[in-house]
Amino acid sequence: MINYDAKQEKTLVIVKPDGVQRSLIGEVIKRYEQTGLKLVALKMLIPSLDLALQHYSIDPGWAKRLGDKTFETMKARGEKIPNMTPEEYAETIRTTLKTYLSSGPVVVMIWQGMNAIGIVRKITGATEPLSSTPGTIRGDYTIDSYSAGNTDNRAVRNIIHSSGSQDEAEKEIKLWFKPEEILNYRLVAEAIIYDANLDGILE
Ligand code: TYD
Repeated sequence: MINYDAKQEKTLVIVKPDGVQRSLIGEVIKRYEQTGLKLVALKMLIPSLDLALQHYSIDPGWAKRLGDKTFETMKARGEKIPNMTPEEYAETIRTTLKTYLSSGPVVVMIWQGMNAIGIVRKITGATEPLSSTPGTIRGDYTIDSYSAGNTDNRAVRNIIHSSGSQDEAEKEIKLWFKPEEILNYRLVAEAIIYDANLDGILE
């Protein structure tokens, strides 16, 4: 994007129902907050099934990508590939995801700052708990697996959703927040994080 100011980048994060139930709201916020990112919107709600479905329908290429990615993982692990196309497989996952997301209160927030999307994804960790490295939120607090989820016909419990791209972030933010719910303010620490020189420190 021409003239895109990376410091203004925004990303949507959802602490999913399992994260709320496991009392991890504070821990999750702490981890993003400590990076220097700025919290510009926050709310708690119980999403309707319809809202959850809209959330997982934002990206038209999602089903193919998710199906392909999962089949590749299964192949690499020597697991049996389901007898359906990657898109059909993704549709079954979408159904379980909307049930999961609407099963209880969630905390939805917008984080803003330099490369917010990538930074939040890094701290969140890989999608499946078995692959997410220690030090990431999913790596430290989850033990679920695709195969356990598939056996029980449910989504993988991985605590967080975070936007995967600028396009996804823009659409997700519009879905979950009204413009007036997103705050425009300066965080004092931004002077230290972004200013070209640090000549304001000494008396
Ligand atoms: P995806 O958008 O690929 O991951 P991320 O949340 O890291 O951006 O996948 C969406 C969700 O789908 C993710 O939370 C995990 C879930 N999922 C399952 O529950 N079961 C599955 O078999 C797969 C492939 C994904």
